[in-house]
Amino acid sequence: MTITKTATTLRSDSARIGFIGFGNMATAMAQGLIASGKVAPSRIYCCAGDFQRLIPRADALGVRARKDAANLVTSVDVLVVAVKPYMVERVLEPVADLIGDKPIISVAAGWSSDDYESILPGSHHLSTMPNTPVAVNEGVIICEKDHTLTERQVDLVRAILGYLGALVDVDASMMSAAGTVTGCSPAFVAMVIEALADAAVKHGIPRNLAYTLVSQTVAGTAKLQLATGQHPGAMKDAVCSPGGTTIKGVAALEQAGLRSAFIQAIDAIEGK
Ligand SMILES: NC(=O)c1ccc[n+]([C@@H]2O[C@H](COP(=O)([O-])OP(=O)(O)OC[C@H]3O[C@@H](n4cnc5c(N)ncnc54)[C@H](OP(=O)(O)O)[C@@H]3O)[C@@H](O)[C@H]2O)c1
Repeated sequence: MTITKTATTLRSDSARIGFIGFGNMATAMAQGLIASGKVAPSRIYCCAGDFQRLIPRADALGVRARKDAANLVTSVDVLVVAVKPYMVERVLEPVADLIGDKPIISVAAGWSSDDYESILPGSHHLSTMPNTPVAVNEGVIICEKDHTLTERQVDLVRAILGYLGALVDVDASMMSAAGTVTGCSPAFVAMVIEALADAAVKHGIPRNLAYTLVSQTVAGTAKLQLATGQHPGAMKDAVCSPGGTTIKGVAALEQAGLRSAFIQAIDAIEGK
């Protein structure tokens, strides 16, 4: 880890945060920052490819839209790179001189600390992979252990990201798999919620009630596991009495290949 000392005195309760790219992920992060109550919308800035389309999206959140990356970079103290991975180099290189030693948080999939060094040598950057539950402050933000933030920038950036959920530091070699599991699983879990709700509807439960029942059960089960550290298998066993109903459902799920379906999903993304 490279740590360089600078004189920055920025604080998480006053720093202006700028999103380069304001699509799904940046919007979720901005929503989470605002929902945390720690970051006023007026401290959040954004730019996108199409300024006219950006304005109503920024207005809806009360955040400040800027015409382009150059205008954005000069307006803020902390940058979040939230364009598609293939756009990162194209968007950052023209504003490299303006970025100077401002801290950069990257959320672009596949962009490692080494990749940033190759396009912005000597800059201060941290590569992360957040997931969409950051919008409600329940995200996971995977952080690459290698970074080039200064000690003070680390404190600032971790405070900001901490408003959005749990920070988990991993080696560069694990960024891809860890980011895939956390970044893609909101889609998979949403499919599970939808499927279980369909089953409930099939058995006469009104759809809205079905979503409430299933989502609260998923959230509660996850919280129970996090709070107790219990093995998920033990949690399953605790609900399965001998000869009871739940074990019949577990057997049906195994017959349908539930476990292998999830493993195949991650294989499909990561490659076997
Ligand atoms: N979505 C997720 O769940 C997720 C999870 C983890 C990480 N990520 C990462 O987050 C990044 C963004 O993903 P996304 O899903 O939010 O994509 P997205 O919705 O397509 O957003 C991309 C944003 O980049 C903007 N953009 C395009 N050209 C630009 C330019 N020249 N200057 C500034 N902004 C420009 C787009 O603006 P226009 O629409 O006006 O062109 C749009 O606001 C990706 O690198 C992805 O790997 C996403």
